[in-house]
Amino acid sequence: MPQYMPQAKTITWQSVSRKTREGAGVRLHRAFGYHEIPAFDPFLMLDDFRAERPEDYLAGFPWHPHRGIETVTYMLEGTVEHGDSMGNRGTVDAGCVQWMTAGSGIIHQEMPKPVDGNMGGFQLWVNLPRSHKMMEPRYQEILAVHIPVVALPGGAEVRVISGTVNGVAGPVRDIVAEPEYLDVTLPPGVQFSLPVRPGYVAAVYIIGGSGIFDRQQDKELGNRVMILFGNDGDLVGVKAGDNGVRFLYISGKPLREPIAWGGPVVMNTEEELQQAFDEYERGTFIRKIS
Ligand code: FE2
Repeated sequence: MPQYMPQAKTITWQSVSRKTREGAGVRLHRAFGYHEIPAFDPFLMLDDFRAERPEDYLAGFPWHPHRGIETVTYMLEGTVEHGDSMGNRGTVDAGCVQWMTAGSGIIHQEMPKPVDGNMGGFQLWVNLPRSHKMMEPRYQEILAVHIPVVALPGGAEVRVISGTVNGVAGPVRDIVAEPEYLDVTLPPGVQFSLPVRPGYVAAVYIIGGSGIFDRQQDKELGNRVMILFGNDGDLVGVKAGDNGVRFLYISGKPLREPIAWGGPVVMNTEEELQQAFDEYERGTFIRKIS
């Protein structure tokens, strides 16, 4: 990274996303998850389900419960058909976002489908603090046209899903962990920096091209590399490689609470996890909303 970005953070952890299976056998790439907690606090997991072969994803994610977290689905191509225990039905289409706050509990299904032969997207899990784990479930569904694109000098483009860039605020609001979620595209050779709030975690997942993300390294990192930045410095600095670079940027305020994680349910204690699974067995998982 250039000398003139002295405040830029350095990388504290990086890894290529790992192949895994989820749902009814969907083959996907996990950028980070259970094995990395609590390094990404308040984030729990990022799954990359970009796939070329329909047989890798058509089985989808049939009915399953969530409690204690928020799931954020961002589609680049194709669509995800969804339905849930609150009676919602719909699709998350290319360029659109579904920010689902499970709170006290929802049961839903998520079925990826190709459009013009293509399907690809990401699901981020954001933890809820103890004070909000049992909040009323809710959805924020955001159409692509409502996600602002901020054009910066040099041709950089930032899609602001959540947070604020150059005074432009994204459409997802009132999320407890105050997360920023951006989709950044840089043309070849362009330099770019993002301020990070003191004490917030900051991370990047590269989804195309390559670039340098650490002022102390010359090595370019490329598609499917997950990067966690350290607490040094107060901004994330990037220099795009010869083919440009595109990446997802996430930042949020750590909750610093105990994590008890059982599949799709994430609570603070083992007792709360057990209670969730007991309620699911007994059919009392979904709370009556008054
Ligand atoms: Fe789900």
